[in-house]
Amino acid sequence: MVRHNIPTARYQSFTADILEQGYRFLETLQPPYVLKADGLAAGKGVLILPTIDQAKASLKEMLSGMFGASSATVVIEEFLSGIECSVFVLTDGSDYRVLPVAKDYKRIGEGDTGPNTGGMGAVSPVSFADAGWMEKVRTRIIEPTVRGLKEEGILYRGFIFLGLINVNGEPMVIEYNVRMGDPETEAVMLRVDSDLVALMEGAAKGSLGNMPLNHDKRAAATVMMVSGGYPGPYEKGKAINGLADVDTDRSIVFHAGTAVDTETGAVVTSGGRVLAVSSYGEDIAGALANSFASVGKISFDGAYYRRDIGRDLIALQEK
Ligand code: GLY
Repeated sequence: MVRHNIPTARYQSFTADILEQGYRFLETLQPPYVLKADGLAAGKGVLILPTIDQAKASLKEMLSGMFGASSATVVIEEFLSGIECSVFVLTDGSDYRVLPVAKDYKRIGEGDTGPNTGGMGAVSPVSFADAGWMEKVRTRIIEPTVRGLKEEGILYRGFIFLGLINVNGEPMVIEYNVRMGDPETEAVMLRVDSDLVALMEGAAKGSLGNMPLNHDKRAAATVMMVSGGYPGPYEKGKAINGLADVDTDRSIVFHAGTAVDTETGAVVTSGGRVLAVSSYGEDIAGALANSFASVGKISFDGAYYRRDIGRDLIALQEK
């Protein structure tokens, strides 16, 4: 991102031998301070510290082995404050198409509390990602990314997932993934109003050219039903009731952690993320109402879902 001038948080990496330089870099940032173990830390190697003194103390501890070898190098990163969204691009290495924008809800608890999950729900579109904002995303982020990959000799054909944050109206990159997102996909795909197979063939063969990728005007929303205890330990094999009662004109129920009991033929839970209940609506409030109505028809022992999916964006729209 730095090489291609793509907007992202300021950051630098430090090792124990240059601890003092790390302190100096921290002093150039505003609180809170983000410290990340540079190695693999099972998603646990990030600390967010409210004061400079705590940040310096934690930097020293991390570099002294707080997370073992994974924090032998620590990345200090500028904290970005804003609302996040997920932008998906399909590219054949030269041309690209932008899919509908979505926002996911990663924490298990309502009000974005508790541990991170794979995502408890998603909505599309995202009100602040309007034409003006997306033009900034296109010119400042998508085009330099696709061009940058090409210039650096990386032939990449497929989906690029841009995890973005809206900082005072300016899009900045938080992360890239080379895949679609879950549960964003279950909302985004409802809004793809073009032949997806043809588009993916175009991406794979390098012939995306001017192929259209139209967006359905309706909104879409996904509510994840998960097993009790997820993202911690949970039980499997719970009978899922009510699937046949879901109005298929209203919702599409994508199965994730489900299986068929070979003895009884019943559909049972077989994972933490069990069902992604997705619906269209005139707007995201309408789509959510449809998904919640369908969720209300389905039950299994210990089932849990977040009732506040999309509420932040609806509040933003009402302001
Ligand atoms: N929902 C976030 C992800 O797929 O990484």
